[in-house]
Amino acid sequence: MKRVIVLSLMLAVLCVSVFAGGGSQSSGLPAIGVAIYKFDDTFMSYTRNAIENNAQGKAVITTVDSQNAQPTQNDQVDQFITKKMNAIAINPVDRTAAGAIIDKAKAGNVPVVFFNREPFADDMNKWDRVYYIGAKAEESGTMQGEIAAEYWKANPDADKNGDGVLQYIMLKGEPGHQDAELRTEYSIKAVQAAGIQVQLLAEDTAMWDRPRAVEKMDAFWARYGDQIEMVFCNNDDMALGVIESLRKAGFFSGGKYLPVVGVDATAPALQALAEGTLLGTVLNDAQNQGKATFDIAYALATGANPSGAGWTITDGKYVWVPYQKVTRDNYKNFQ
Ligand code: GAL
Ligand code: CA
Repeated sequence: MKRVIVLSLMLAVLCVSVFAGGGSQSSGLPAIGVAIYKFDDTFMSYTRNAIENNAQGKAVITTVDSQNAQPTQNDQVDQFITKKMNAIAINPVDRTAAGAIIDKAKAGNVPVVFFNREPFADDMNKWDRVYYIGAKAEESGTMQGEIAAEYWKANPDADKNGDGVLQYIMLKGEPGHQDAELRTEYSIKAVQAAGIQVQLLAEDTAMWDRPRAVEKMDAFWARYGDQIEMVFCNNDDMALGVIESLRKAGFFSGGKYLPVVGVDATAPALQALAEGTLLGTVLNDAQNQGKATFDIAYALATGANPSGAGWTITDGKYVWVPYQKVTRDNYKNFQ
């Protein structure tokens, strides 16, 4: 009888420890908390999957959806710190909130890896156990602009009104996001650098979102119609929304075409390239951004030096994953 009691007690203790914390105590693996600004974002879902796949068998990952609300994310970060996670990886809702997150993480001595939304340098410098994994937004803008310029030069008919000026629409991602601001700026700079004159017809944000892009493009088409000679979009979801809108206006059949460019190289965007609707995109490398995020977080979580994690670290804190141009010529390499 005594034995049975002792055994069931031991079992109970075992069960509690298995479910406590979900981290190092139970499995012997480090615990890493991951917060994504919102799950309902195509590109971020790729990055999230890449982080989780790389963690298989190496760390216990707890991923939470911050539902596009910084207060929600702040609570999630508090919980990660209270639960004594070994490291946290944060995709901020609002990049200006990174400073407060770093203060808390430092106080709790939990190292932080930010990704996709770049904190300001002043915040990054608050602590040495803070890293950022991302891609140089300027680079994606430049590549997008080069794709546009190449098309413009190869297709004189693209200048519909024959005035020698490229009349365009710009659909932006979330205002203030480095990728929205810099892609907007650098795409057009690259077009101009190719010797092409441009005229902005209209610019608006569709917040990275496809349905919103359909609405915006419906309105732009109603207002500007055939004055529009090209549409630049800060990401593929919005480019696909623009294409959807243009289809309703009769484009992409019977020889009616309007060049639309995006960024990310999502699966549906590659499909659109194959179908000949999307002119071009730029690979935003979720696989490598997710892998770098995990590798650096894992090094920090296990007390290893991140410089040995297999990535080039710039300025002591940054891992930059390169972009790549994707057009009809090479899209198959990215499928
Ligand atoms: C960008 C990406 C967008 C969106 C955004 C979220 O890098 O191009 O599609 O996912 O990140 O922060
Ligand atoms: Ca023109």
